[in-house]
Amino acid sequence: MKKVKFQVPTGMHDILPSEEAYFQKIYKSVESISKFYGFQKIDTPIVEDAEVFSKAVGISTDIVEKEMYVFKTKGGDVLALRPEGTAPIARSYIEHGMFNLPQPIKFWYFGPFFRHERPQAGRFRQFWQFGLEVFGEDSPIIDAELIQVFYTILKDLKFKNLIVEVNSIGDSQCRPYYKKLLSSYLRTHQHSLCPKCQKKIKDNPLRVLDCKDDRCRDVVSRAPQMIDHLCEGCHNHFRQVLEFLDGVEIPYRLNPYLVRGLDYYTRTVFEFIEDKHSDENNERKMELLGGGRYDALVKLLGGKDVPACGGAMGIERIIIAIKNREKEVLSETSPRIFLAQLGSLAKIKSLKLLEEFRKANINISQSLSKNSLKTQLRISDKMGVDYTLILGQKEAISGMIIIRNMKTSKQETVLLENVIPIIKKRLKK
Ligand code: HAM
Repeated sequence: MKKVKFQVPTGMHDILPSEEAYFQKIYKSVESISKFYGFQKIDTPIVEDAEVFSKAVGISTDIVEKEMYVFKTKGGDVLALRPEGTAPIARSYIEHGMFNLPQPIKFWYFGPFFRHERPQAGRFRQFWQFGLEVFGEDSPIIDAELIQVFYTILKDLKFKNLIVEVNSIGDSQCRPYYKKLLSSYLRTHQHSLCPKCQKKIKDNPLRVLDCKDDRCRDVVSRAPQMIDHLCEGCHNHFRQVLEFLDGVEIPYRLNPYLVRGLDYYTRTVFEFIEDKHSDENNERKMELLGGGRYDALVKLLGGKDVPACGGAMGIERIIIAIKNREKEVLSETSPRIFLAQLGSLAKIKSLKLLEEFRKANINISQSLSKNSLKTQLRISDKMGVDYTLILGQKEAISGMIIIRNMKTSKQETVLLENVIPIIKKRLKK
C-alpha cells in the first residue's frame, strides 16, 4: 500500500468504530459500578498549569522530567497536556473548596492522558484512563474499598487470573529514615547497579527498588525493606488494609519492591497484573492499573491537610488483554431489522417510521440514500438481520408495508400503523 502523506502522530492511535465497541463495553462497566459505590463523575481540562504536575508528581520523576508535553500559550502561561488525573482533581478539589462539603468525596473519571514515552506494546503517548479518587478520609477501609471496586470492574470484564500487588511506602515520619538506610545499603553496592540506578541513589533511592535490570534486582533482593521500618501509624494502617482485603477474599500479594513512579504516594500503594502461568522468562507483566494513598498531596498543592487515596487503569491495556484472552471481536449490537424503501413518498414515510421505531426503542438499520431495492436487500442480507421491512411505491400509497422474514424468505403485507407492535412481538420470540 502506498504510504499516505499524513499519519497519526507517533505513539497515538485513532479509535476506529471497531475499537469503540471495546471502549463502550468498558465505559458501561466502570460507570455502573462506580455509581453503585457512590462515586461521582468529574472532568477536568486536558491542559493544566505545568506546575500542578511538577509539584504533585515530582520534578525528578520520569513523567515530569522526560514525558510531559509542555508548551507556552500566546498569553505566556506554561501549560502541560495532562499526564495523569490525580493532580488536576486535587487542584479542582482545592479550588472549589470541596473540603467544606461532607467528606469523603468520591470521584470517577474517564479520559485521555498524554506522556511522551517510547512507544511499545501497551505504552502509548496518548492513552485513556479510568480512575477513582477519594478525598477526606484516612481510614484503611477506603484503600480496601478502592481495590475492591477495581477488582469488581475487572471481574465484570471477565478477567480471571488477577493478582493485586500491595505495599506500604510509609509517610513523612518513617520514610526519610528508611530512605537513608536504603541509600547507604545501595552505596555499598553501587558498582553492581546499572548506570541509571547509580545516579538515583542520592535523590530517589526508592526507584532503584523497581528497576528491571538483573544487576539491580540482585542487589535489591538483599536490600532493607520499607515494610520492616514503618512507623506505628503506618504499620497499623497497612495491617488493617490487608485484613479488609482478606475479609473480602481478594487475592493479593505483598510486593516489598512496589514503589510506583509518582512522588505523591504515602502508605498504601497497589498495582493489578494478570497472572500468566505460561510466562517462562519470569518477566513482570505491565500492570493494568495502579494507585495508592496520597495523604500529603492536597496540602502540597496549597489546600488543607486532607487525606486521599485513588487509582487509575489503562483502557488500552485492558482492551489488549481482552483481545488476547478471548480472541474476541466485539461489535456494536447490530440491529435485527432493516428498512428498505423505493420512491420519494416511501422515503418520506421511512423518515417518519424510523422515528417511531426509535421512540419504541427498537434498533433498526437503513440505507435511505439508496434507490435500488436489490441493493438494499443485499445490504440487509449482509447485515444478517432477521426481518427486512419493504416500503415500496405501492405500499407507500396504500398505507401498507411488507415484512420479509430473511431466514424463510416469506413475505406478508401489513398495515403500516401495525408494523411496530407486530415486530415487537416477533423479536420477543
Ligand atoms: P500510573 O501508574 O502512571 O498512575 O498510570 C495508571 C495506569 O495507566 C497504568 O497502570 C497503565 O495501565 C496506564 N498507563 C500509564 N501510562 C500509560 C501509557 N503510556 N500507555 C498506556 N497506558 C498507560 C497514575 O496515573 C496515577 N494518577 C494513578 C492514581 C490515581 N493514583 C492515585 N490515584
